[in-house]
Amino acid sequence: MSAKPWLDHRVLVTVGTGGVGKTTVGAAIGLEAARRGKRALVVTIDPARRLADALGIGELGHEPRTLPREVLRKAGIEGPGELVAMMLDTKRTFDELVSRYSPDEEALERILANPIYQNLTDALAGSREYSAMEKLHQLHSAGEYDLIVLDTPPSTHALEFLDAPRRLTGFLQSDFLKLLFRPALVMGRTGFRLFRFGSATVLRAMERLTGIGFLRTISDFLLAFESMLEGFTTRAAEIEALLRDPVCGFVLVVGPDPEQARRALDFSARLQEDGIGLMGLVMNRVRTWPGSGPVPELDEVEAKRITEWLAKELAEGNPPFDPKRTARNLVGTLTRQALLARRDAEVCAHLEKALALPPEAVRRIPLFSEDVHAPETLRRMASYLFGNAADV
Ligand SMILES: Nc1ncnc2c1ncn2[C@@H]1O[C@H](COP(=O)(O)OP(=O)(O)OP(=O)(O)O)[C@@H](O)[C@H]1O
Ligand SMILES: [Mg+2]
Repeated sequence: MSAKPWLDHRVLVTVGTGGVGKTTVGAAIGLEAARRGKRALVVTIDPARRLADALGIGELGHEPRTLPREVLRKAGIEGPGELVAMMLDTKRTFDELVSRYSPDEEALERILANPIYQNLTDALAGSREYSAMEKLHQLHSAGEYDLIVLDTPPSTHALEFLDAPRRLTGFLQSDFLKLLFRPALVMGRTGFRLFRFGSATVLRAMERLTGIGFLRTISDFLLAFESMLEGFTTRAAEIEALLRDPVCGFVLVVGPDPEQARRALDFSARLQEDGIGLMGLVMNRVRTWPGSGPVPELDEVEAKRITEWLAKELAEGNPPFDPKRTARNLVGTLTRQALLARRDAEVCAHLEKALALPPEAVRRIPLFSEDVHAPETLRRMASYLFGNAADV
């Protein structure tokens, strides 16, 4: 467990299940880094454009985009800090990778034109995660940013990220593939032809089923890829090392409900198994009681007493509404809010205790009355993450 302040990291990865606020929290972290004079980059691979929405800017693409000064000013940032955002394009990241590792122009063209490669990014489980990791590594190595925040896409198993590099190289080096295609790979195209007319009956049947050139396409793909395998494997090892480096921190975002708390515990356990500590926990959308005092315990008797008192007070002002009914509704609403606030506080306390994180690693953000899609609201969120969060 790293005791380093959040913004002293070089890479922060926001993780968590769907819709909990990973993108928004990631954007708020980036914004705070910029407010403190850093050059920060927030990378998202969420195709839903939520990052652009949260930052209150129009479009985001594969090229990093520096936020205009006026957007930063709206978030109260006047200093020299910069916030850059980008929405990663999986296919382009893969193309960039392949062009880096291909030994020559011909191999590059062959692989880019190969139908298997063209479908690889969709077909291969975890390829989106892999390309995010790859991009992260690339951006980190380039050293252009003080802080990179990687916002991960929704996934039931956010740990797919950690497994992605291993899974991809594992797939490319798998015994299954070797068994099927090694003879062809070793002997080149002539060997492949021999192999093709050998005993691979099932594959030949598949070829008939799928139309022309199925085996040839696979063989071409693997031949071309083989030359890049070493590059990929080395890179995967470097990515894994980066994720375990103390410069990198994982921020788990979670909503205050028991099911999410349970998943958060699983997640943290898996991280630990992989030798990675959770750096921070953000409990988002926590329902709170207004002010900083304790949440009142309103039992039925107490609620009735307050209702009667309130109805009397309201009636004295001769209001244009029914004072009794209004008092009942108001107290009912407050009672419900107190109940929800108590329940959320219990879930948060349970999770904090179970994860055994130090207090400075845990942040709570209240449920705002509106969605976060402007720099001003994002700034508010950042103040809960980095400012005086005592009222939550
Ligand atoms: N504290 C909050 N109060 C109110 N609304 C919030 C809060 N945090 C996030 N939201 C809203 O919740 C929605 C989901 O947030 P966000 O897109 O950041 O979640 P996510 O975890 O990135 O989702 P996904 O898993 O789909 O990528 C957004 O509309 C956002 O504005
Ligand atoms: Mg998101």
